[in-house]
Amino acid sequence: MCGIIGYVGTEDTVPIILEGLKKLEYRGYDSAGLAILDRGAVSVVKQKGRLTALEEALRQNPLTGHIGIGHTRWATHGEPSDTNSHPHLGSQRKIAIVHNGIIENHRYLRETLERKGVVFHSETDSEIVAQLAEYYHRGDIMDTVIRVTNALEGSYALGFLCADDPDKLIAVRKDNPLIIGLSDGGNFIASDVPAVLKHTNKICYLEDREIAVLEKDRVTFYSRDREVIHKTPETISWNFESAEKGGYKHFMFKEIMEQPRVLRDTIRSALPGGTNHAVIEALDIGRYSQIFFTACGSAYNVSMVGKYVLERLCRFPVTADLASEFRYRDAVIDARTLVIVISQSGETADSIAALREAKRKGADTLAIVNVVGSTIAKEADHTVYTMAGPEIAVATTKAFSAQLALLYLLAVRFARGLGRVTPPEEAALLADLEELPDQAEALFAHVDRIQQYAATCFNCKSIFFIGRNVDYAIALEGSLKLKEISYIHSEAYAGGELKHGTISLIEEGTLVVAIACTERLYGKTASNVEQVLSRGARVLFLTSSGETEETDCLSLLPIRPVSEWLAPSLSVIWLQLFSYYVAVYKGCDIDKPRNLAKSVTVE
Ligand code: G6P
Repeated sequence: MCGIIGYVGTEDTVPIILEGLKKLEYRGYDSAGLAILDRGAVSVVKQKGRLTALEEALRQNPLTGHIGIGHTRWATHGEPSDTNSHPHLGSQRKIAIVHNGIIENHRYLRETLERKGVVFHSETDSEIVAQLAEYYHRGDIMDTVIRVTNALEGSYALGFLCADDPDKLIAVRKDNPLIIGLSDGGNFIASDVPAVLKHTNKICYLEDREIAVLEKDRVTFYSRDREVIHKTPETISWNFESAEKGGYKHFMFKEIMEQPRVLRDTIRSALPGGTNHAVIEALDIGRYSQIFFTACGSAYNVSMVGKYVLERLCRFPVTADLASEFRYRDAVIDARTLVIVISQSGETADSIAALREAKRKGADTLAIVNVVGSTIAKEADHTVYTMAGPEIAVATTKAFSAQLALLYLLAVRFARGLGRVTPPEEAALLADLEELPDQAEALFAHVDRIQQYAATCFNCKSIFFIGRNVDYAIALEGSLKLKEISYIHSEAYAGGELKHGTISLIEEGTLVVAIACTERLYGKTASNVEQVLSRGARVLFLTSSGETEETDCLSLLPIRPVSEWLAPSLSVIWLQLFSYYVAVYKGCDIDKPRNLAKSVTVE
């Protein structure tokens, strides 16, 4: 986690870095800081708390300059505090660094330097990078960076400033993301594209252990052996506005409302003429004997839907596994396995490790990723991109929907490959799918309904979500969304499991959210609803069936999918809106929930 940004150019650096940090706050928001190199001296201002605290500190202690680095932190080693904030300086204040990642051998290196008299100021693993750099520095900053990175074990994206080389910003990375932005007014380093989008859409991606030397009018890339590497910048199609709130109060709400567009773009991308079409067509399902999904968080919940949908449509063995489990469980996979890794960021540490484990075992790998050029996108054998655009709110919404849309398309493609659908059946499935964006749009006409219901729920201590089959998978996502942003305890259960324990927690007034959009299982979930109602619960029932009637304790949210298999895409939007409004009524920090970060680059 953590976000880093750096700039060297003709403009005033501080506003550029502050703006960039705002775009990176989703990666961590325990503290923030920046270092500016001006007239041969490095100055640092850093502050515990949100960016506003740093802005205030800069008002007290203004800095100017044309080269600088900034950081927003998600604490791993050492509590959130001013001293543990980045940038870190070496003891002689000559070299400043910002770091995203974890230095695994920091204790050993620290003890070694302490024995030589170096005094450390923070409890962080990152400070070792600054101290080591000054310890090794003999005047050539490139040489210093190479020596430092040779000594480090773990993961890092690093930005360096050195008072001896006042016109250069040095960047290097291993296992953590770092992009280089190029513009006429100067050059940038950043953890992610939105941080620089206001200034440029020309991006180069650093590979592991490559070094970038940024000056105001050029960027030179080197291998770890100091050989010059030529890179051609890529043009990013995301625009600056797409990473802005655009008049909405919260990014999460804006991103929820963007879903019809995202669904439309993602579906089109997989159809003839679309950017994902060739990759999807080239997948030969006949090569495989099984499919494994692996992912984290909401992306894992998408995998769960994928498992149900693919199994049913393709009659093919599918497993969904949490990436953090998959990477260590020695799964039975081989060259006849297709491992599908789903990730918005493409940088989630466990998902990267799961992908590498799958490749190590010889499996074929397909990535479903939102961020172009991310590690997972680059390392997978095949990659398809969700067309969600930049997602800023920590709680994912539109990326989830886009991932789901690509899964539906893969399911149809594989069903055709396996001969499970005839051409007319395939055409009918695709026609249903193409109606999905309009259906999602139509749902927004009834937003006030869910808003009013949420207004009665924000005092709940605990909320349970139940469903069966794909509705269970969506229950998992509804529950995750709610606890992420509203801090209300919630759990999701497969409807049939309720009576094996959880039902003992139901008491007068407990809220149960039930989802029943799978017709053949409607009666089963409806009887679970009866069971909790008769024990005093109140129920919010999302259903495509017209059989149930509202009562004082039972409220209905109708879902009318054009076809049953697409219902998860609609029910999830209701649940996103439910969580959103509950959190709004509770007064929570919607886009930056406590303790969370959007891109989880630590294990
Ligand atoms: C974090 C985010 C979730 C996301 C998960 C996986 O926990 O808060 O929204 O689903 O990471 O992230 P990925 O980028 O791999 O989809």
